[in-house]
Amino acid sequence: MQNNLGQYPNTRLRRTRKFAWSRNLVRQNTLSISDFILAIFVCEGTNIKEPIINMPGVYIYSIDQLIIFLQDLLQKNCINAVMLFPRVCSTKKTVDCVESYNPDNLICRSIKAIKENFNNKIGIIADVALDPYSVHGHDGVIDESGYVLNDQTNQILIKQALNQAQAGCDIVSPSDMMDGRIGEIRQALDEGGFYDVQIMSYSAKFSSSFYGPFRDCIGSTQKIPIDKSSYQMDLANSDESLLEVGQDIFEGADSVIIKPCLLYLDIIAKVKSNFNIPIAAYLVSGEYAMLYSAINNQIFSNEYKILYETYMSIKRAGADIIITYKIPFELL
Ligand code: PBG
Repeated sequence: MQNNLGQYPNTRLRRTRKFAWSRNLVRQNTLSISDFILAIFVCEGTNIKEPIINMPGVYIYSIDQLIIFLQDLLQKNCINAVMLFPRVCSTKKTVDCVESYNPDNLICRSIKAIKENFNNKIGIIADVALDPYSVHGHDGVIDESGYVLNDQTNQILIKQALNQAQAGCDIVSPSDMMDGRIGEIRQALDEGGFYDVQIMSYSAKFSSSFYGPFRDCIGSTQKIPIDKSSYQMDLANSDESLLEVGQDIFEGADSVIIKPCLLYLDIIAKVKSNFNIPIAAYLVSGEYAMLYSAINNQIFSNEYKILYETYMSIKRAGADIIITYKIPFELL
């Protein structure tokens, strides 16, 4: 594409910037409620709305409170889809992670409650990974040396995904980074009659230090910091993200996630220029914490302008969908 045909003074690039109406006309990217998936933490109990440490403005909800929260957002037309994460009671965390495919587990009850209350007005996405259910906080089952076993983990992930689909989940979202799990989950969903349940794959999920507040919240943090680098991507790698995305598309993913996102905008742009598949970018708990520690310390004076600029950078890089803990409704 030839970009530089215009010459000053015939061409003045400031002309279109003079008035707001004109800037509106030539604006390339926009943000609207339909771009967003709201990530929400759920817990057992009733009448609970508990603040999350290090994530100001984010709460963990018991199911009854979750419904009240979503009702309010829906009335204001401020919600399109949710992604649910469970804080599983420590008594239900085991070595074999059986709670992940218990049809009456917290996540299934949450899915059913949302469907019962709002029908298909809110899309429901559930995370497929074993970290909320394992005693050690890893995303899969481990051997004696602590290594996460790929194929054995996949067998459980299949059951977990089917369990979520059975409960009424619209999109299952494997975040575990095992090899081959997308194809196996797709096949199991189809065999179970769940042809229309989508798979949003965490394809390029990096072994990042920005997941801390999330891990603290769902209780997957251990005394010794957990190292997921034998399955999550090495953050020094960029080309490998294309291998991951390509493989997941081949195996049947309907959309892919890149995560974290603010320090990984190059990965979003690269995937966008190589594949025609919807891309979701996940602004993770540590990125949220970083933004809000500056906002709450009055280092940034305008919260919404900061969110606007942050989210716009993600759209501009090429993401179609933004998964986040806070949607800047005032800007939409
Ligand atoms: C679990 C999972 C994690 C996140 C989403 N799904 C944590 C991890 O991989 O350790 C992190 C999200 C966040 O930090 O906001 N597989």
